[in-house]
Amino acid sequence: MKKPKPLPELKASEAKAEHARLGREIAEHDRRYYQDDAPVVSDAEYDRLRRRYEELERAFPDLATPDSLTRKVGAKPSDKFKKVRHKVPMLSLGNVFAEEEVGEFVARVTRFLGLAKPPDFIAEPKIDGLSCSLRYERGALVQAATRGDGYEGEDVTANIRTIGEVPQKLKGGGIPDVMEVRGEVYMTHADFAALNERQRAAGKPILANPRNGAAGALRQLDPKITAERPLHFFAYSWGEVSALPAKTQSGMLDFFRRCGLPTNKLTKVCHSIEEMLAQYRAIEAQRSSLGYDIDGVVYKVDRIDLQERLGFVSRSARWAVAHKFPAERATTVLRGIEIQVGRTGALTPVARLDPVTVGGVVVSNATLHNEDEIARKDIRIGDTVRIQRAGDVIPQVLEVLQDKRPRGAKPYEFPHVCPVCGSAALRETDEKGNEDVVRRCTGGLICEAQAVERLKHFCSRNALDIEGLGDKQIEMFFAEGLVRTAADIFTLAKRDAKSPQKLAEREGYGDTSVRNLFASIEARRHPPLNRFIYALGIRHIGETNARRLARHFGTFEALRKTAIKAATDFEARAELDAINGLGPTAIKAVVEFFAEPHNEQALDALLAEVTPQPMEAVETTSPVAGKTIVFTGSLERMTRDEIKAQAERLGAKVAGSVSGKTDLVVAGPGAGTKLNKARDLGIEVIDEDAWLKRIGAG
Ligand code: IVH
Repeated sequence: MKKPKPLPELKASEAKAEHARLGREIAEHDRRYYQDDAPVVSDAEYDRLRRRYEELERAFPDLATPDSLTRKVGAKPSDKFKKVRHKVPMLSLGNVFAEEEVGEFVARVTRFLGLAKPPDFIAEPKIDGLSCSLRYERGALVQAATRGDGYEGEDVTANIRTIGEVPQKLKGGGIPDVMEVRGEVYMTHADFAALNERQRAAGKPILANPRNGAAGALRQLDPKITAERPLHFFAYSWGEVSALPAKTQSGMLDFFRRCGLPTNKLTKVCHSIEEMLAQYRAIEAQRSSLGYDIDGVVYKVDRIDLQERLGFVSRSARWAVAHKFPAERATTVLRGIEIQVGRTGALTPVARLDPVTVGGVVVSNATLHNEDEIARKDIRIGDTVRIQRAGDVIPQVLEVLQDKRPRGAKPYEFPHVCPVCGSAALRETDEKGNEDVVRRCTGGLICEAQAVERLKHFCSRNALDIEGLGDKQIEMFFAEGLVRTAADIFTLAKRDAKSPQKLAEREGYGDTSVRNLFASIEARRHPPLNRFIYALGIRHIGETNARRLARHFGTFEALRKTAIKAATDFEARAELDAINGLGPTAIKAVVEFFAEPHNEQALDALLAEVTPQPMEAVETTSPVAGKTIVFTGSLERMTRDEIKAQAERLGAKVAGSVSGKTDLVVAGPGAGTKLNKARDLGIEVIDEDAWLKRIGAG
């Protein structure tokens, strides 16, 4: 980039020209970022442009006209909707791509249920829109919410009421007192094209695909605007229901239809894998003529009692799977490789591409995964590459078209130092001597890229969810030294009150936006424990592991005490080892995190500002909640996986071996050493029938 002229040397006319040029450039980057989700510049570069634009306005105040970009907030309206907690979480589906994987899914389900032959499945198109939950009470629509993070969504009742085909009152008899109908809100191709035509005519940004069109329409604060952007709905699932009106998924869909709710016609109950795959092909053959986007076929176990027995693994249903359509592909030229530094120091190469349309979306970036991938595919700058995009997945570079390689193109040399802090970037080796594929910056706490990414993670939606502290704001506050650590976020208001240079007096800010920002920070001083743990950004501690830790320890102090002790104390380490589902890599990361003195200090400072709420156990009232249980011997009424999942749902911990910590052993015929050990230790032993009685299922 050309070095800009120092401000004092600029003539007013030059400043005006540069300001206008920058304004166009920034608006284009905003469009790519917010509408296409495909930025072409790094965040740092974007910020440089933005800062220069603002400096020009400060030096030449005439440029700060009412339509200046400094008067607009970049992000779309979002924080203004009321939050709705889902009584029954809105979870997701696992994906499969190959036909063999469908067979594996069916086998898994059959095995889990201990059946001799597979149960019936229903095949339904997977609609590419946004899922929504519509709550009907005594037949009347009372609330509609988006999925959000699956546990908490946004109240979009007023907007859903503008969708003509969603009944305000359900028809027919036998309607449960409470019924949450779940399904997909989507936009048709025709409506999407018309919307984009209006956008174009009004000089407004063009939307990338119907899904973005539907999302934008649904999240309008003014329902009048939603009404101008016609949306549709298909019902395919449910949340809280006071009395289920059917015993099968297909029966529920029939019931929805009788109530006047729109359901998709392409559903079919299948009695074999062959029938499932035939329905997949039949749906795929109609894909391009449906008039709306679908991105695969969902297979669900038809019987609801079996669905309930199967339950969920982590956040996905065990009783359903999405069979996705193959990804779409295109070729383009790779112009450069940018190295991004993530929260954990991982150096990730990103391909900068000549923009190309793949499956209706303009793509100008693609992931190159890591150093070995680039070497394996021998990707060089200037190469023509084939790229692929599948649904929400980040576009990938598949291969290089060798015959199109420009003469003189050199093999790519992956940097061995961090592009941000200059520290050495190394590849770790594990105990077995295997080299990690990821090269990491060793700068740790001194690497600003990592610090900024950690802050972004801390504030992000599934972590503390601090509204008004988006990525751009964090980068700005960080660059200015206003917020360097998570604790700084919570002292911002206090410091601002004392500062001669108030935030509210800045360009682009105002009293209201600063007041809102401070209010949303205040609102997060008592975060749920699992979110708080997740927000810390400990390696290998994603949302699921954070939830496991929170459930096990109940309070942050308890976790911290045990994790610190676990570095040297065998018992404490054994307690971590016994947490169901938490693997050795995650445990090691937790212990290392708490053993790091800088983290200790940062935590003390943070806990002086923030008090995580203690977490309740999964089900505190069940007679086995909090108990450590071992299952041994063979079972007659359920499979091993099923009984384990059942125990976990009731808040119990399932262990693989008997120890002093075991509270209960459930033993079936053929139980051996574990049973003997339990007897030696004086642990209570019961059989399968007694287990079912104890949990109230016998
Ligand atoms: S069932 C527990 N059925 O796919 C599973 N989902 O990855 C509940 N979707 O968030 C969802 N068509 O937005 C189901 N026929 C269908 C669907 C469908 C689209 C979406 C939905 C969900 C996502 C799951």
